[in-house]
Amino acid sequence: MKKRVLSGIRATGKLHLGNYLGAVRGMLELQNPSAGTGQVYETFYMVADTHTITTPYDIEELRKNRREVIIDYLAAGLDPQKSVIFQQSEVPEHIELAFYFSSVTTIAKMQHLPTFKEKVKLHPQNATMALLNYPVLMAADILIYKAGLVPVGIDQEPHLEVAREIARRFNQDYKTDFPEPQRFKTEGEYVPSLTGEGKMSKSVEGSYINLTDDLETIRKKIRAVPTADTSGGEMSEGIKTLFSLLKLFSVQSHDKFEKEYNSGRLQFVSLKDHLAEAIFKELEPIQKERKRLEQDTEYVDRIIKEGNQKAREVARRTIREVREKMGLG
Ligand code: ADP
Ligand code: TRP
Repeated sequence: MKKRVLSGIRATGKLHLGNYLGAVRGMLELQNPSAGTGQVYETFYMVADTHTITTPYDIEELRKNRREVIIDYLAAGLDPQKSVIFQQSEVPEHIELAFYFSSVTTIAKMQHLPTFKEKVKLHPQNATMALLNYPVLMAADILIYKAGLVPVGIDQEPHLEVAREIARRFNQDYKTDFPEPQRFKTEGEYVPSLTGEGKMSKSVEGSYINLTDDLETIRKKIRAVPTADTSGGEMSEGIKTLFSLLKLFSVQSHDKFEKEYNSGRLQFVSLKDHLAEAIFKELEPIQKERKRLEQDTEYVDRIIKEGNQKAREVARRTIREVREKMGLG
């Protein structure tokens, strides 16, 4: 059997460069292995709409975004001929498996996860069971397809550790054959914030560039990255951010700008405008494809429907096996 891959992004809005570099580029890489080898992996990519309800949300927004993320995926190059592209909530077996998994997961362990603590800090009124169960549902998302490889950013590592522990415990207790999923690392596994502090994230205003931003918007955002009066010496966080984005979007010019920086000759604005153009050059074809897909409602609907069905078939098989082994079938 081919090794399986699963990944997902929550339906909380438009994708930004962090999502693209940390998750989507990895999804693409695993979907399209280097020429000549043929497809090595069976790839499952979903929009994690069920996970979206674990923090406060707007119903209309969710309804819209669970489709928008799929359009972003398709525009970025996920190919329904090669990958199963689907909506998590349309495969309710994920929730069933998550409940079974919760029987081998302690409350204490979940309460101590950094991701749980951060979200409770952000929404103190919302320390719910659903939020506590977030990593258990994520483990079910992955293991219901017996996926061994997960392309996500570095911030998701604690969740993958939980998935591995659950797989081990379940295999021990019930003689199942779940793999211990590993993270598929991309070069952009940690994209820093444009504010020069922390990571790029849609919950921090001014920190991100959306995949749909036009050249003017990108230029404005990049120009706003805090730098310094003169170049040379130790780099501030903002300057480091610019150089790491250069590495990701215009690797050939990185060393030239670095030399200029070290010799004190760098004009930050020329680096910034060059970077903005390099980013836009990569996003432009994605944006064009997105516009086309937005018009083709029927095609998108069909892809989603077929993906949901394919995913569900695989998920049902795993659930049948698990119920049987647990004494429920
Ligand atoms: P956000 O933090 O903006 O809400 P999500 O938590 O929805 O983003 O993340 C979706 C995916 O994108 C995950 O795989 C996550 O690891 C990845 N990701 C998000 N932000 C970044 C970033 N700044 N750098 C690298 N990957 C990221
Ligand atoms: N937790 C992931 C995020 O913050 C989204 C997600 C849900 C996911 N289920 C998953 C990612 C399964 C990979 C595999 O974006």
